[in-house]
Amino acid sequence: MYLDSEDEKILAGEYGETRRKMMEILVALGKVFGAEKFVPITSAQVAGASYKTIGKWGLEWLRSLDARVAVPAVLNPIGMPRERWQEMGIPSDFADKQNAVLQAYRRLGVKLECTCTPYYINRTSYGDHVAWSESSAVSYANSVIGARTNREGGPSALAAAIIGKTPYYGLHLWENRMPQVAFRIEAEETVHASHYGAIGYLAGKEAGNRVPIFTGIRPNRDQLKALGAAMAASGAVALYHVDGITPDSRVLRERGMDISVLETITITGEEIEAIFKEQTVDAVAIGCPHCSEDELEEIAGLLKGKTVKIPLYIFAARGVAQANPNLVGTIEMSGAKVWEDTCIVVSPGMDHFGTIMVNSGKAFAYVPNMCGAAAVLGSTEECIAAALGE
Ligand code: F3S
Repeated sequence: MYLDSEDEKILAGEYGETRRKMMEILVALGKVFGAEKFVPITSAQVAGASYKTIGKWGLEWLRSLDARVAVPAVLNPIGMPRERWQEMGIPSDFADKQNAVLQAYRRLGVKLECTCTPYYINRTSYGDHVAWSESSAVSYANSVIGARTNREGGPSALAAAIIGKTPYYGLHLWENRMPQVAFRIEAEETVHASHYGAIGYLAGKEAGNRVPIFTGIRPNRDQLKALGAAMAASGAVALYHVDGITPDSRVLRERGMDISVLETITITGEEIEAIFKEQTVDAVAIGCPHCSEDELEEIAGLLKGKTVKIPLYIFAARGVAQANPNLVGTIEMSGAKVWEDTCIVVSPGMDHFGTIMVNSGKAFAYVPNMCGAAAVLGSTEECIAAALGE
């Protein structure tokens, strides 16, 4: 792997022990995956921020580091809303440890914006190379924006943030971004983001880690977000194309892509509907990935002047929630809560429910294992109706 003279100096420890260790991580990764060189990155999104997932050893490792990030970097969701953790029922012992994790990241220069939707906070453009960790964010970056990122682990994303580069392999290379399997969607109605979550849930199981291309759908950005997040959870899809919609698919068409030669899997409306079933639920959670402004607006419209009968939790990035105080106010007037910084699966505050209703294919896939609860999938309207007891 080619290293320039600065890289060599970092590796020799001339810029301190932490940078040396970070360079070592990146070089090791590059060698494993056959990278010929590094590529500069414009941003990083670092997983391993919830104390629930990193625990004592992760915190100690973070505390041992002494350097500053070289590019804008944000965090994945943490285990609690930073200011309102008591309201969510988080034990103070957990909150102390979670705050210690945040302080460790702050010392490294990481912005304490804790979200799986960094694209709502920092501008990322087509063709940018980035080092993001969270699977739905990676999918959105690659597929919807047309940026280039592999799915980084927490340490490799942090190493890339500190060095400002990442090994040039995998989805950074155009040749690895070609579709490998086609999905034809044959459904009369696919109008809700949760329908796209269901399609993603089904397609991810079939696609595994291949790059899929979809035909027969015309999703908007929130629906693309739901589709990609679910595929990243039920499979390991880090990049997908929707024919004529996602940016790389247009480039592929211009270059003569022929998807008729690919294995083609059909998903029907009946298969999609079969994922949705009626069941009594204890709580409702929306915002996996974190809600956009449009999604908050839809939820606020459905809740206006009404009162929830069971816990209804809405998850959003701090930057998005705080930019929309009226929508958050309308939602919270109903008794629902808008939680910043945290998420359904990495917060211990979600661990005491028996059945949780979600509008997300990704949450539907993760809730059983990560929260120890049964998951029910519904559209946003159905989720709100369940919370209102309608
Ligand atoms: Fe985001 Fe947590 Fe869902 S990180 S995608 S809200 S599982």
